[in-house]
Amino acid sequence: MDSLSEGCRGKNLFEAILARRSVRAYAPKSLSRTTIETLLEAAVHAPTAMHQEPWAFVVVQNRRLLKQLSNVVLAGVLDDSHRPVAHGSDYGVTRPELDVFHGAGTLIVICAKHSGPFVTADCWLAAENLMLVACEMGLGSCVIGSSVVALNGSKVKTELLDIPSEYSVIAPIVVGVPSGETPVVSRNPPLVLAWKAQAS
Ligand SMILES: Cc1cc2nc3c(=O)[nH]c(=O)nc-3n(C[C@H](O)[C@H](O)[C@H](O)COP(=O)(O)O)c2cc1C
Repeated sequence: MDSLSEGCRGKNLFEAILARRSVRAYAPKSLSRTTIETLLEAAVHAPTAMHQEPWAFVVVQNRRLLKQLSNVVLAGVLDDSHRPVAHGSDYGVTRPELDVFHGAGTLIVICAKHSGPFVTADCWLAAENLMLVACEMGLGSCVIGSSVVALNGSKVKTELLDIPSEYSVIAPIVVGVPSGETPVVSRNPPLVLAWKAQAS
């Protein structure tokens, strides 16, 4: 990560932005504590409204606990209306045999204390920092929005994740070594609604 301490060059950053994908297949390799600490370091350098730094993190690398959490998520989405749907996809969460964390060995849960209108924005900016640096390090990542409701359930939050009651789960992100090729998801060109240039 020497290149990061030298300063992130624009070219590398833009390449990481273009290369980042939501990875949904992971090799069974674990990530070291140093790697996770680098990702968290990137996260906490995100912009933060009124310099509040509202974020806090839970790192889950215990496979049994990940399976348990995945089962709680699946149980929740199968019997209530919190089923996430994106582009007609349910991320597979309606298939109970699946792991909502896509087999990743690391889940980083970005949490926040509720202390202002921009707390959620701060955490999502931290999430993007984390995912871009993961990409630059050759790692895959994926936001698991479908798990937010379940992870905020009082029993899961307190008993399984040791998150104090004054914190809420905002952004759960899995990270790991990608397995195989991740398909490219295209983007529409920017929709510019107005561009009010200086009159000449
Ligand atoms: C707020 C949010 C929630 C998401 N939740 C999930 C999820 O629960 N499971 C999943 O597999 N992908 C999830 N994704 C990933 C999106 O499906 C993905 O970003 C989108 O399809 C674009 O693909 P790309 O990230 O590869 O460019 C989520 C993304 C965001 C931003």
